[in-house]
Amino acid sequence: MAYAYETHDYDVVVVGAGGSGLRATLGMAEQGLRTACVTKVFPTRSHTVAAQGGIAASLGNMGPDSWQWHMYDTVKGSDWLGDVDAMEYLAREAPKAVYELEHYGVPFSRTEDGRIYQRPFGGHTTDFGEGPPVQRTCAAADRTGHAILHTLYGQSLKHNAEFFIEYFAIDLIMSEDGQCQGVVAWKLDDGTIHVFNAKMTVLATGGYGRAYFSATSAHTCTGDGGGMVARAGLPLQDMEFVQFHPTGIYGSGCLITEGARGEGGYLTNSEGERFMERYAPTYKDLASRDVVSRCMTIEIREGRGVGPNKDHIHLNLNHLPKETLDLRLPGISESARIFAGVDLQKEPIPVLPTVHYNMGGIPTNYWGEVLNPRPGNPDAISPGLMAVGEAGCASVHGANRLGSNSLIDLVVFGRAAAIRAGRMVDPATPNPVLNKAGIDKALDRFDRLRHADGTMPTAQLRLEMQRTMQADAAVFRTDRTLAEGVAKMAALAARMDDIKVSDRSLIWNSDLMETLELANLMPNALATIVAAEARKESRGAHAQEDYPARDDVNWRVHSLAWVDGNKVTLGHRPVHLDPLTRAEDGGIDLKKIAPKARVY
Ligand code: FUM
Repeated sequence: MAYAYETHDYDVVVVGAGGSGLRATLGMAEQGLRTACVTKVFPTRSHTVAAQGGIAASLGNMGPDSWQWHMYDTVKGSDWLGDVDAMEYLAREAPKAVYELEHYGVPFSRTEDGRIYQRPFGGHTTDFGEGPPVQRTCAAADRTGHAILHTLYGQSLKHNAEFFIEYFAIDLIMSEDGQCQGVVAWKLDDGTIHVFNAKMTVLATGGYGRAYFSATSAHTCTGDGGGMVARAGLPLQDMEFVQFHPTGIYGSGCLITEGARGEGGYLTNSEGERFMERYAPTYKDLASRDVVSRCMTIEIREGRGVGPNKDHIHLNLNHLPKETLDLRLPGISESARIFAGVDLQKEPIPVLPTVHYNMGGIPTNYWGEVLNPRPGNPDAISPGLMAVGEAGCASVHGANRLGSNSLIDLVVFGRAAAIRAGRMVDPATPNPVLNKAGIDKALDRFDRLRHADGTMPTAQLRLEMQRTMQADAAVFRTDRTLAEGVAKMAALAARMDDIKVSDRSLIWNSDLMETLELANLMPNALATIVAAEARKESRGAHAQEDYPARDDVNWRVHSLAWVDGNKVTLGHRPVHLDPLTRAEDGGIDLKKIAPKARVY
């Protein structure tokens, strides 16, 4: 069927309106670029709204801190897989980015003397990991993402960015020679089709947590950017690294912020033991997330889980003063009551490691420009295309992200993309001539899914994928579980050809939208498990029990995955080892960030 469409011309189109999408949109619009932001949900309902504990920046409001210490912690947290230039950029620009947020109007919590309040978070330390935990995480109570989203949306409107709300991006439009020209989108409330033609397209579509059965991620986190990129023939990077947050509420998976442990909460097993003291004697409950999640899993495996089935852990906050809970953690007090039936002033919260974040994503440099690595040029740029936030992989988090480094990643790299676009995009030049064949291809795929008449309902295939990923690409992995998972996922991905969509309409067709989302989740999930099976070491969130040690000789490399249907081709890219600033100019001493055993 032929679809009529309306064409919109902009300098920049940003897809997604979470923290990174809005920060990019605002930065573009502030510079006078004609900017469209296309989003499948209302901006302030984007998943950033769920970010609780805060945003890392070495402001030093609560004690000594420096960007070099923040960089060191990020390098160590990444288990030496992050790109050093990007990690420096993140840590160095973080204070500026947070003060900008403050000036835009984010209502941060305050210290007695009126400065931004900062709390401790896992893996953030002083003195290059030699000193006590640092209070680096800037917080707006435990609703920091909510506060940031509302502020950035208001500021973007003030600067005349144009929002296309409840538009689902179907596919990128690529020219014959690989230039991105924009996106094709479906307007969910009236069924019309829209083509956004732009000199720069920015993917800010978030993660793909919903590839798993139990995730803190919203149901909208379906890896739409990764799906579009894979269909455009570009690779995904480091997909095997999936973060499990230690404290998802047992059963619902709802997030209980790490800020709870930052404010003094602690974990216990069935013997009432504060077991983290055994595993991480220095930083205990504030070790990094991958470490805490593994320790919790070991406690449960060894029979020291709590509850009738001994299958979860307790998070204790009932010793904290009521004023602290009311002032600093009001949101989780409510979540614990609603989702666990617990009054956290009286009882511990039942928690379990829960899928929370994707370290991998669309490979970019630290300006957010998407990479299309090729032999001899691993950092080749895919023109006209950027990716920021959880959709992108800059790579600052490497094999494991530190808590509160996500919100700062969103604003630092959303801002960086805007700075770069300001230099690259000339509003005076005409927009690219659209590749009609590219638009037709996107609409053919849309039409095929709309009329899909196979035997496999979308919800059933999605559930099978989620259960497979949960079981076979879990906190601990082995050769056997991964090989089984790869075989199951390849078979499930092939079932996309047998998908059944029952609703053929174009208006508020949630059946079709969920099918498009599943078609995006699938390449993300497949790349994850195939790259995990291939990586024969343990590093960060990838705990491979048959290869328990990190192997820097063979595996300090980014993995790349090109996904075509149910086939994955793997490759590698070198890790960037050089910082942006030399030690003699105030940068970090390279000896400080040389790989070593990662203990907390
Ligand atoms: O625990 C939290 O508040 C989550 C923060 C993060 O993922 O950065």
